[in-house]
Amino acid sequence: MTDRYAVFGNPIAHSQSPRIHALFAAQSGQDMCYEALLAPLDGFVAAVAAFVRDGGKGANVTVPFKEAAFRLATRLTPRAQAAGAVNTLSFADNTVSGDNTDGAGLVRDLKANLGCDIAGKRILLLGAGGAARGVILPLLQEQPAALAIANRTEEKAVRLAREFSGNTQLMPEAGGFARLAGQEFDLIINATSTGLSATALPLPPQLFAPGALAYEMVYGRETPFMRQAREAGARVADGLGMLVEQAAEAFFGWRGVRPATAPVLAVLKG
Ligand code: ATR
Repeated sequence: MTDRYAVFGNPIAHSQSPRIHALFAAQSGQDMCYEALLAPLDGFVAAVAAFVRDGGKGANVTVPFKEAAFRLATRLTPRAQAAGAVNTLSFADNTVSGDNTDGAGLVRDLKANLGCDIAGKRILLLGAGGAARGVILPLLQEQPAALAIANRTEEKAVRLAREFSGNTQLMPEAGGFARLAGQEFDLIINATSTGLSATALPLPPQLFAPGALAYEMVYGRETPFMRQAREAGARVADGLGMLVEQAAEAFFGWRGVRPATAPVLAVLKG
């Protein structure tokens, strides 16, 4: 019987995940199907339970249910634990296993697709919400020279940095945007939601070191952050590669097969 997978979100109609996983399955000859399922805002747990009753083997979880998925999981990977959020669920033997593949997806996109080595680099992470939290541990594990977190609400950045201070030898620095004056970084990652609202961040132009890469987690549009970075002479990437790589990592967890992402990325870029 064909194994069933799905992505839960609200809204979900425009999700690229069914297309990505269908391409992975075709490429690797896996007998599986993958659909997008809209869960009511107050009905995520019931929707997942119904899916499992119907034989669902695993699911991706997107906005706004990643924290609910974290609470639902009866077993968590260390990276899901650190992220405080789950984007990948596996169902077997009455166990709900929760993983978070977002950070690994970002790291893989940076290293494999964009040729950006993270070790020894000075990283600036913009934002201190769920998207930022999800990528901190995998970034720290790559042993950058420094990781700074800057956020509009300074206190949230400070709290987040403190949470991760025991994870590796590197203690993340944290502050508001005003503290960025006079500092420069090799890799600047926008994990704020400003890409969705088309708001510009108050970033000093010298922030982008020569040869710096500016990474926008949002995809499918030129955001103010991407424009600012381009104007400052930085190389710019959007989050499409991260989307495909986090999906590949989930697929690997479910099927034990690592799909080739380059052809899928090429299809999505059209
Ligand atoms: P997500 O899960 O996408 O991270 P979130 O947890 O709501 O969503 O976090 C949104 C992030 O974008 C936060 O870092 C937020 O800054 P605050 O903590 O100060 O709210 C940031 N953000 C949203 N709108 C912003 C804006 N107009 N300017 C600067 N930062 C903004």
